[in-house]
Amino acid sequence: MSGINYSEKIPNNVNLSEDRTLQRALEQWQPNFINWWDDMGPTGTTDSEVYLRTAVSVDPQGWAQFGHVKMRDYRWGIFLNPGEAGRHIHFGDHKGEKAWQDVPGEHRANLRRIIVTQGDTEPASVEQQRHLGLTAPSMYDLRNLFQINVEEGRHLWAMVYLLHKHFGRDGREEAEGLLERRSGDENNPRILGAFNEQTPDWLSFFMFTYFTDRDGKFQLCALAESAFDPLARTSKFMLTEEAHHMFVGESGISRVISRTAQKMNELKTDDVNKLRAAGVIDLPTIQRYINFHFSVTIDLFGADESSNAATFYSSGLKGRYEEGKRVDDHVLKGQTYRVLEARDGQLMEKEVPMLNALNEVLRDDYIKDSVAGVERWNKVLEKAGIPNRMKVPHKAFNRHIGALSGVKVSPEGRLLSQAEWDAMADQWLPTLQDRAYVASLMGRCVEPGKFANWIAPPVMGINRQLVDFDYVRFN
Ligand SMILES: [Fe+2]
Ligand SMILES: [Fe+2]
Repeated sequence: MSGINYSEKIPNNVNLSEDRTLQRALEQWQPNFINWWDDMGPTGTTDSEVYLRTAVSVDPQGWAQFGHVKMRDYRWGIFLNPGEAGRHIHFGDHKGEKAWQDVPGEHRANLRRIIVTQGDTEPASVEQQRHLGLTAPSMYDLRNLFQINVEEGRHLWAMVYLLHKHFGRDGREEAEGLLERRSGDENNPRILGAFNEQTPDWLSFFMFTYFTDRDGKFQLCALAESAFDPLARTSKFMLTEEAHHMFVGESGISRVISRTAQKMNELKTDDVNKLRAAGVIDLPTIQRYINFHFSVTIDLFGADESSNAATFYSSGLKGRYEEGKRVDDHVLKGQTYRVLEARDGQLMEKEVPMLNALNEVLRDDYIKDSVAGVERWNKVLEKAGIPNRMKVPHKAFNRHIGALSGVKVSPEGRLLSQAEWDAMADQWLPTLQDRAYVASLMGRCVEPGKFANWIAPPVMGINRQLVDFDYVRFN
């Protein structure tokens, strides 16, 4: 079951050939996907051969095979983790009942919405990142970008499979819609705000893969608990791919910081202008990028209080992060959770029913997880003997969704007047000048083993290859 059949047009481990109607429908969607890839995938890459990993099984050990392939020939397919015999629902009102292999009628609309919203983020990020290859800081980084791009494409396949198999004609229409919306398009945008923002430079890309792919991790972890078993199984396999995306972000920012620290020591200065003249990204600019990407990403978890969140949980569609490891009753009726609100000129906690606060619960879990990597960046500074430290801003900073969207709050969590905010915003969020400076550093540097001046080389290569391996062959 865990072996993947590559002899079929659509590689899969779901016995696709046994369901001719489904197979035919997906084979009709496949050329539309390739057209979308040709139109919206990485620019100018048609002939390049990229050292990519492809899934060969869903076993935790050795699922990947590496080799040089043209991206449009990548074997995108349908891979689900093996089913657990007799799996039961372990949270919500259906707790203790058998997990669903099909979609119950009463949850159909909500499940479809959840799957479409998740699916929409996958092609969106490919669209957001499509020009980055033109300014890659190294061949190694270029390869990592392309690996992420093909895997986001595969995540789209994962969701489209569920739509086609379980949602009939509506599902097929939604699958078409996923190829029609465009990131940033005024008339037909992607569903979620952060996925309509641009990813204009590589610092943004590393921030996006660190912070926003991590949102993906948390959403997928919540879906991996779902009572709808096929969704749980597909989410589990997607998570194994997602881990690499976050590694690219974390190690990328770490290397930027490392290079900046090296120059600071060399020049014995923390003067922004001197560091910029030396062609590296000053720490205050990196901090502003962190502030921006962190705040935009935590908005993705939705409103602090949400009756939808309660419904999704109680009906078993979406669990909490690591639901199985928690020691409460997994029903949560009558329990409370603290959310923030602005009252009497300050931020105060208030208790609300926990079921309604599940977006906030997931957001708080996410925040804990993202702080860990920031601490690892600080280790780089500490080792270099630089006193500065990076940190994520307060969760009320720069929010545009939920109860905190109506107030202005400093990165430290102090409630501000509009005038105070206006006076300080340029120190907290990337300015046009910051963005223009970072953009000015972006130039293509893709000879094997060469790295742009603003970023340190990685500690090791991909799949135990050398750092100067020819990860991309330009033909
Ligand atoms: Fe993804
Ligand atoms: Fe991802």
